[in-house]
Amino acid sequence: MDNTYKLLDEAVALLRRRGFGQPRVAVILGSGLGDLADGLAAPVAVDYSEIPGFAPSTVPGHAGRLVFGAWEGVSVVAMQGRYHGYEGYSQRQIAFALWTLAALGAKSLLVTNAAGGLNPEFRPGDLMLIADHINFTGGNPLIGPNPQRFGPRFPDLSRAYSPRLREIARETARELGIPLREGVYLAVTGPCYETPAEIRSFRRLGADAVGMSTVPEVIAAVHAGLEVAGISCITNMAAGMGAEKLSHEEVIEAAARVKSKFAALAARLIVRIGRDAK
Ligand code: HPA
Repeated sequence: MDNTYKLLDEAVALLRRRGFGQPRVAVILGSGLGDLADGLAAPVAVDYSEIPGFAPSTVPGHAGRLVFGAWEGVSVVAMQGRYHGYEGYSQRQIAFALWTLAALGAKSLLVTNAAGGLNPEFRPGDLMLIADHINFTGGNPLIGPNPQRFGPRFPDLSRAYSPRLREIARETARELGIPLREGVYLAVTGPCYETPAEIRSFRRLGADAVGMSTVPEVIAAVHAGLEVAGISCITNMAAGMGAEKLSHEEVIEAAARVKSKFAALAARLIVRIGRDAK
């Protein structure tokens, strides 16, 4: 191994010194959901830039800090702001953050994101439970020396999005009266939105939604033995399927419109996952 373990030990030591306990659940807060972490009881926050091995986050509107706290007695660690490949981070750097969450003791991960809808039945504002993914980024966070401490060289991804957690997510959404779609998330690197021809081909490949995050995080998390659930907020119909032009503003606006429903589902789900933890 390179110096990954050394940096990880330093990262965990720093976070413990700053008051991080053992989280039951880790959550990655995507576009528009960042302030969910502000609802945590007794929160402690540490900026990514202070954590050994973490790169500073660069996108405006992404806070870039790790927050530890509790929701209804369930201890939670939240990534408030995430690393995207299009910012220039390697998938290995993204993996490092996930290894840190695993090393802190998290057993499950909820990942959230904004995505474009490919399934013609979807509408902007829909929430989609991720059933599976297609890695179209051309990269992989596990390229390089394998951190055997976390998992094997050739990890199995046949149940990457835990069937057990998906059932809990469906149940939770039903209880809250929130409609929940389900489908396959395809990840690209961005930062361009796709061309209509790309979107037509992704539909043929079996994708229901497309986005620029999540897949590297999920691969690293599954490798490290975390049980994963993912929810996408469909902020727009993908290129060629709806509005003439796509813009980041439209994505942010749509995410803001459904934020309360998305946040309610995510918070409830985190509590359920934490209480039902294996
Ligand atoms: N494409 C890629 N990423 C996205 C989109 C999209 O249409 N919407 C939100 N994130």
